[in-house]
Amino acid sequence: MNTPICDFVRAYREKNIIRGHMPGHKGREILGMEPMDITEIQGADSLYEADGIIRESEKNASFLFGCPTFYSTEGSSQCIRAMVFLAMQWAGKQRKKPLIAAGRNVHKAFVTAAAMAGCDVEWLYPGEGESYLSCCPTAADAEAFLAETKPAALYLTSPDYLGHMADIEGIANACKKLGVLLMVDNAHGAYLRFLQPSLHPMDLGADICCDSAHKTLPVLTGGAYLHAREGMFSEKEIKNALSLFGSTSPSYLILQSLDAANPILAEPFPRMLSDTVSSLQLLKSYLQDVGYVLAGNEPMKLTVLAKPYGYTGFDMAQALREDGVECEFCDADHVVLMPGPMLDIGRETRLSQALLLLKRRPAIQAQPPRPFRPERVLSIRDAMFADSEWIPAERSEGRILSYVTVGCPPAVPIVVSGERIGREAVAAFRYFGIDSCHVVKE
Ligand SMILES: Cc1ncc(COP(=O)(O)O)c(C=O)c1O
Repeated sequence: MNTPICDFVRAYREKNIIRGHMPGHKGREILGMEPMDITEIQGADSLYEADGIIRESEKNASFLFGCPTFYSTEGSSQCIRAMVFLAMQWAGKQRKKPLIAAGRNVHKAFVTAAAMAGCDVEWLYPGEGESYLSCCPTAADAEAFLAETKPAALYLTSPDYLGHMADIEGIANACKKLGVLLMVDNAHGAYLRFLQPSLHPMDLGADICCDSAHKTLPVLTGGAYLHAREGMFSEKEIKNALSLFGSTSPSYLILQSLDAANPILAEPFPRMLSDTVSSLQLLKSYLQDVGYVLAGNEPMKLTVLAKPYGYTGFDMAQALREDGVECEFCDADHVVLMPGPMLDIGRETRLSQALLLLKRRPAIQAQPPRPFRPERVLSIRDAMFADSEWIPAERSEGRILSYVTVGCPPAVPIVVSGERIGREAVAAFRYFGIDSCHVVKE
């Protein structure tokens, strides 16, 4: 598989051309990567009107993912906004209401996208035993919810930050039956395509889906994909939707990394991934043997429930940090580690040893707040564009939230714009360390 973007930039660098164009560093090495950092000069194609090397590289990615695939240099965040825009365009064409049903554990990009698109959202709440970071309804529950709320589209986050994956196949069947567009935030699951068999949402029946390539594949931060089912949207519609939310100066460093990843993803990534998943399964069983309680069913994530092992998530993450291991995410209850084919996780490695040698303590009993259903007062859009102010979270009871107030990661809102902040919400803000919030002025 070729790498047309990398080849172009390498050749351009070698020609030693006077760079009478952006960027301002002119290819002069200060940090080291400047010579490879170009802009949309002649021959370099144009991300949102691609018909040259970028299109060729995207075709390679489409071949790898088995469906039309488009690059983003601004993460899944950009793709999520584009997906919501496309869903609303689709709803208009189908003469459906601008209404999306969504699992409540959305990334904040979805909420701002809904505000900008002016669409309404019906929330599917986490089930019994799920935290506010998860929402994996059964196919039957999802179908009943869709039949009752009649949205144009369903938006699910799978895998979620804690490594729970929803039954996308079953839910996709329910969506097809009811004529509902299925969008999946697969930011954490680009690698799922390279498992045997694939667990990627597009292979399980999603209509459109985003992957943060940078989260689980060997790609620079910011690199992402937007995938769509063949024939669902035209190439022009997808490029237009992405361009609405992207810079007119996309990073060629990120484009090169997406391009360079393609031949690696063809081979040896799938083989390396399979080895990693086996090693991680083994590590998970060693950890369970010494008393760890783990969460999630995602094959390449390691989520520890810290309290049964006697730590808060913060303390466990700090203990690992002191042993030279930095986690992806921690909160009071969880520590999330994201291994991958580029990280050795055999039993004797530092990561495994840091966990296995961590002293077990008496379990901590305190439980996190249960997810709750705030009262909806205004639409997301009306609340987000209302006259508003910052106030201390402790004094927010009774007020209506304007911007979503989230810790990032995981960037999952506890209360959504337009909802009234109740006593439970204030307690949850306290628990999750949110000390101020943005509310509609009274
Ligand atoms: C579930 C989920 N969706 C979307 C995003 C946004 O992805 P990106 O950072 O690629 O913009 C994140 C980021 O962490 C995420 O966790």
